[in-house]
Amino acid sequence: MSEKKRPIIAFTKYSPYMVIDLEKMEDARGNPLTLKPVTMLCRCGNSKSKPYCDGTHSLTGINSDKEPDRDPYKWKDYRGENITVHYNLGVCSHDGTCIRELPSVFNVNKRPWIAPDNSDAEKIIEVIKKCPSGALSYTIAGEKHVDYYKGEPMIKIARKGPLELYGGIILKDDQGTAPETYDHYTLCRCGFSKNKPFCDGKHLKNRFSDA
Ligand code: SF4
Ligand code: FES
Repeated sequence: MSEKKRPIIAFTKYSPYMVIDLEKMEDARGNPLTLKPVTMLCRCGNSKSKPYCDGTHSLTGINSDKEPDRDPYKWKDYRGENITVHYNLGVCSHDGTCIRELPSVFNVNKRPWIAPDNSDAEKIIEVIKKCPSGALSYTIAGEKHVDYYKGEPMIKIARKGPLELYGGIILKDDQGTAPETYDHYTLCRCGFSKNKPFCDGKHLKNRFSDA
């Protein structure tokens, strides 16, 4: 795909998300959602037409500042015999896929919380590829793997959770923000993240609802 054709998600510190030239958006069950050449998506969490913007932010405001006490941005390596897993808490959206799908390796009640020797490298890779935020990557046979998505650019609306963006959607804001990888990243749509515009899992604690 040429650079010119790549869809864009654009926003300022005080605006909702403006999605441009995207052809695929779906809900958490895979049902298609309507897109126009330019589609406004809710970012404050207060729209009555989620995931779309209904203008409520003009009454409630949008607080898009990063909080000083957000999770630290730091990559850590978890070395196993056949694979090294890389993880960054400051990127994680805490959707829990890793701990649900492979608790023998990803277990927050153990230290270290990632134990790569407790499963096959193939299974670990399979789970890492399902991480939507960019918080997990891996190195195998000396080669680091960060990008995995193979389909057309799309946004998935996680149920009661963030926007999951896949396939190289360009992020343009007025803060010079760049995701960990354009291959896949997650943007806050509940308004509670301390690491805006990215999701940091605060939708869970704040019981964000799609209603
Ligand atoms: S975002 Fe990735 S690392 Fe964080 S809980 Fe989900 S799968 Fe695990
Ligand atoms: S949608 Fe996850 S913190 Fe807002």
